[in-house]
Amino acid sequence: MNDPRSEAARRRTFAIISHPDAGKTTLTEKFLLYGGVLTAGAGAVKAKGGGRSATSDWMELEQQRGISITSTVLQFPYRDRVLNLLDTPGHRDFSEDTYRVLAATDAAIMVLDGSKGIEAQTRKLFEVCRDREIPIVTFINKWDRPALDPLALLDEIEEQLILEPVPISWPVGDGGRFRGLIDRTSGDFIRYTRTARGASEAPEEVVDAHRAEAEEGDLWIEAQEGVELFDTIGREFESKRFESGELSPVFFGSALTNFGVRLILDAMVDLVPSPSPRIDEIGNPRPLEDPFSGIVFKIQANMDKAHRDRVAFMRVCSGRFERGMVVTHGPTGKPFTTKYAHSVSGRDRETVEEAYPGDVVGLVNANDFRVGDAVFVDSPVKWPAVPAFAPSHFRVARTTDTSRAKQFRSGINQLDEEGVVQVLREPGVGDQAPILAAVGPLQFDVCQHRLENEFGAPVELNPCAWTTARITDEESADKLRGMTGVTIAARSDGELLALFESPYWLQRLEVDQPELVLDKLIAEG
Ligand code: G4P
Repeated sequence: MNDPRSEAARRRTFAIISHPDAGKTTLTEKFLLYGGVLTAGAGAVKAKGGGRSATSDWMELEQQRGISITSTVLQFPYRDRVLNLLDTPGHRDFSEDTYRVLAATDAAIMVLDGSKGIEAQTRKLFEVCRDREIPIVTFINKWDRPALDPLALLDEIEEQLILEPVPISWPVGDGGRFRGLIDRTSGDFIRYTRTARGASEAPEEVVDAHRAEAEEGDLWIEAQEGVELFDTIGREFESKRFESGELSPVFFGSALTNFGVRLILDAMVDLVPSPSPRIDEIGNPRPLEDPFSGIVFKIQANMDKAHRDRVAFMRVCSGRFERGMVVTHGPTGKPFTTKYAHSVSGRDRETVEEAYPGDVVGLVNANDFRVGDAVFVDSPVKWPAVPAFAPSHFRVARTTDTSRAKQFRSGINQLDEEGVVQVLREPGVGDQAPILAAVGPLQFDVCQHRLENEFGAPVELNPCAWTTARITDEESADKLRGMTGVTIAARSDGELLALFESPYWLQRLEVDQPELVLDKLIAEG
């Protein structure tokens, strides 16, 4: 049996965040290529033109819209390490889901499009990382196309994100003249050769500075000037500041042609910290060698039609997980036998026999499990609560076919448990017309689609006038109930929410009646 501490030291668990189209899917695919998991042409992470099947596009809706909604976990070997890549939804409406996934990662790669720089969703996802103090590695992609000036891009990171960029590689040329990268650590030039469709690793030639200058001329000299600028101001990588989220190592490259992919994977191994003891609810770290414990960070049901069941994704925090072991579900105290433990990559499932800190296991039919829950053996643990985001979009849901009321109710409960939306109920109205509360309106499309397709309950989602929600208590709720423009509804975790039609009315109330409890939910960024 392996020691959990040394196994944890071999692991790196991270996510990729990016604005849609910056190249997250392509980079993921290339990681699998370099990890030896995808062989040339054997498959693609994303279906291109509807031809090949998708590894990470699970739901029909995702395919229709061409976006990634669900989260995937991919595990692949690189050098002598095990890399766990947690996919995050690309669309801004799913930032709450991203937030939960980031609760289970140790680092993130922020992918930027070299011709666009920081885009709206990059900033938003970055803020989620900053909130969680997650170290960020930056990858500036698509350098095989005409790109912005590298210095301007680094300035943008520094000024807009208040994050100190430290270039580790530097591009020599761009667009059709993109030759390769200067490895700032060694000073060498890495010259790449393109392969057909980037289907195999890009051959690399390491060239020393003298030869590079002779062979690449102006392109080399220009790149060298950029590097020297950072050398002169002493901008070096510092692991402490990286780990606290103040500084980001920056890599340039092209996921499409595989230029720079190896360097960024090396950075995941050499710069990103391995899993460390997780802090429990009262602030104590749970040592890695303690008995097994894990945190549930995502619930996903009916991922595809071949497996109509519910999977709770759990990150191992301490000890060794072994399939078949009986774990305790913290909140209920009930035992759960982990007979069906999977690693889940898109549609493909493989049984997991054992897992160590940093790994993710999908537990099938763990029906009581919710996001944030602790599972353990022997010594109990409780993790700090995963906060819910402030919803700003609301709909009242009703089934249009009363004979499907039961299916409607179970569908709503399922979506609630998965956190697809927050489900609120007004006392007296109850189950026939729950209020769905979301960060972004696309969440409603997912609800409607799943209620109709998975549960056979046709629904109408009626717009409502509320724009803002606050958490309140029983005493304040009694007072608020009598006021116009305010509705009190209960969330399934027991919290009472006050829903306001007008933010100005809420502001006035906060000034006029400061004794009322009107707590903010976490900002959506
Ligand atoms: P995403 O997951 O972040 O949304 O981005 P994705 O990887 O799907 O990439 C979006 C588009 O950008 C794709 O083109 C992809 O081929 C292209 N792309 C990704 N990385 C690079 C790169 O390094 N260089 C260049 N030139 N293009 C890149 P598409 O036209 O939308 O799809 P496809 O028809 O090419 O498959």
